[in-house]
Amino acid sequence: MKIISDIKEMQTLAIAARGEGKRISFVPTMGFLHEGHASLLHEGRKRGDLLVLSIFVNPTQFGVGEDFDKYPRDMERDTHIAAAAGVDVVFTPSPVGMYPAGYQTFVDVAELTLPLCGASRPGHFRGVTTVVCKLFNIVQPHIALFGKKDFQQLAVIRQMTVDLNMPVEVVGMPIIREQDGLAMSSRNKYLSSEERTSALCLSRSLQSVRAAYHSGERDAERLKQLVQNIILAEPSATIDYVELRADETLEKVATVDDRTLLALAVRVGATRLIDNCLLGED
Ligand code: PAJ
Repeated sequence: MKIISDIKEMQTLAIAARGEGKRISFVPTMGFLHEGHASLLHEGRKRGDLLVLSIFVNPTQFGVGEDFDKYPRDMERDTHIAAAAGVDVVFTPSPVGMYPAGYQTFVDVAELTLPLCGASRPGHFRGVTTVVCKLFNIVQPHIALFGKKDFQQLAVIRQMTVDLNMPVEVVGMPIIREQDGLAMSSRNKYLSSEERTSALCLSRSLQSVRAAYHSGERDAERLKQLVQNIILAEPSATIDYVELRADETLEKVATVDDRTLLALAVRVGATRLIDNCLLGED
């Protein structure tokens, strides 16, 4: 397994691999890898000849006062996980390499970035699409894998690749959870043991909405109320948003169906966690 920090070296390797007819699969991450990331790597391994993992804590997607500085980093551990997953190249560019002095170009997806995390984190998706566009230009993947854990991010990236005619197949992968239901996230590391228990209110509320949906409830407001009641019962949890939206357009719905997305962002103590499900999923 190669570890490459130099942008030009990564791009040259990618162009050479393409020249040899190799199919490049790509998993972009911010590191501190867990089984959610590993599931993307396993799928990428199956679907390509050269598997590239990027690890880059992207400063442009963090707002002022967010956790850029304290975002967990552990290169040694990540390298072991990457090797075990069959990664060929770990790409670890530096912030100044990606955004040198004088940098001034950004990619902005207009409408899909307005609601949900876009409303709570202004500028966040502009940073995400900008870095993913740059990474695509450097790594030149045929296929790129993203988790549905960040459902809106996946939708925004799909839109960017279509709108900008990027020759990349974007694949969405299921949410990987801990045994007790908590969606895996690098940010779970911030939780104290009491907060870790409180954090189960996210997956529990998704479950209760799905149960109500399967019992025939179709009214978005009543389903939303179910979630709010469960979250508000947790003293250390506060709601950022609870929304029921159409899975492709992310437009609000009053009456839900199989294609409705239930998306949550909840602060547990100081840690902001997100989770979601499609009501029609098993
Ligand atoms: P990061 O949070 O490290 O996530 C990298 C990828 O792993 C994303 O596609 C994310 O959706 C996926 N992922 C995270 N937790 C998951 C889980 N529990 N199950 C399945 N997939 C999961 O998302 C980012 O980094 C960044 O915004 C990035 C796209 C790399 C741009 O900087």
